[in-house]
Amino acid sequence: MSEQPSTESTGNTGNQGDVYTHGHHESVLRSHTSRTAQNSAAYLIPHLGHGLSVLDVGSGPGTITSDFARLVAPGPVLGLDRAPEVVAAATALAREQHLANLSFDTGDIYNLDLPDDSFDVVHAHQVLQHLTDPVEALREMRRVAKPGGIVAVRDADFHGMSWYPQLPELDEWMELYQKVARHNQAEPDAGRRLLHWARAAGFTDVTPSTASWLYATPEQRAWLAGVWADRVVGSAFAEQATAYGFADKATLERISAGWRAWGASPDGWFVMPNGEIIARA
Ligand SMILES: C[S@@+](CC[C@H](N)C(=O)[O-])C[C@H]1O[C@@H](n2cnc3c(N)ncnc32)[C@H](O)[C@@H]1O
Repeated sequence: MSEQPSTESTGNTGNQGDVYTHGHHESVLRSHTSRTAQNSAAYLIPHLGHGLSVLDVGSGPGTITSDFARLVAPGPVLGLDRAPEVVAAATALAREQHLANLSFDTGDIYNLDLPDDSFDVVHAHQVLQHLTDPVEALREMRRVAKPGGIVAVRDADFHGMSWYPQLPELDEWMELYQKVARHNQAEPDAGRRLLHWARAAGFTDVTPSTASWLYATPEQRAWLAGVWADRVVGSAFAEQATAYGFADKATLERISAGWRAWGASPDGWFVMPNGEIIARA
C-alpha cells in the first residue's frame, strides 16, 4: 500500500470513552426518526438491489435502516448501535413494520462482533462526526465489507451551515456546539473530511458527493426551530455544555429563544450541508 496521508485522528483506538454529544432525548429522536433513505441516503440508493446484505452502524432509531430493508429485501439488514435504549426503539420499529429481513443489536463501530468480508454494503449516517477516531472506525467498517463491496458514509459539516436571518443567538449556538463537540474530541466539521479520513483508512477508490438539507418552508422552519430550541435546553448537549462550563442555564435559554425567533421569521432559511462518500472495500 502507498504511504498514508497524514490524519487529524487522535490515534485513539476502540475508544469506549467516546462521548456522544447528542444523547437520545426525545428532542433528538424527533429529529433522527424523521430520516429516510430518500432524504438521508439518496447517494446510496442506486447501489442497493434486492438480495444485497447491509450493515448500518450507529443506526439510532433505525428509520433509514428499515428503508434499506425494504430496498434490499429479502437480503439481510442489520442495524448496530452502542446505545441499548435506542436499539430497543429500533427493534420495536422493525417489529411494527413486519420486516422479517431486518434486525438490530448493540455493537461498537470500533470493534464489530462480525466476521471479515460479511456485508455487501456497510453504512454509517451522522456517526463519524461523533467519534474520537473516525479513521479507525472506517478501517473496521472496511474489514466487515466484502471485497469490492461498499462502505458508505454521510456526515454534516457544521461550519458549512448557513442561515438567514443572521440572529446572534444562532451564531452563539454554532460556537457552543463546536466547543462541546470538540471537548468530546469529536469533529463537527466532518463532512469536508470524509475523503481525507477514507484515504487515511486505506481506501483508494472513493466517490465523493454532497447533499444539503434545506429548511425554508413554514413547516420545515417550525420543525427545525422546535427541535433545536428543545435540544439546546433539554438534551445531553445542554448537560454537557453546562458540565464543561461553556454555558449557563440563562445562555441556553437565550439560544433556545433565538431558535424560536428564527423559526417564526417568514424569511427563515437554514442549509445543512452533508459530505458523502462511497468507498470500495
Ligand atoms: C446522530 S445519531 C445517527 C443515527 C442514525 N444513523 C440516523 O442518521 O438517524 C449517531 C448514532 O451513533 C451511535 N454511536 C455513537 N458512537 C458509536 C459507536 N462507537 N458505535 C456504534 N454506535 C455509536 C449513537 O448512539 C447514535 O445513535
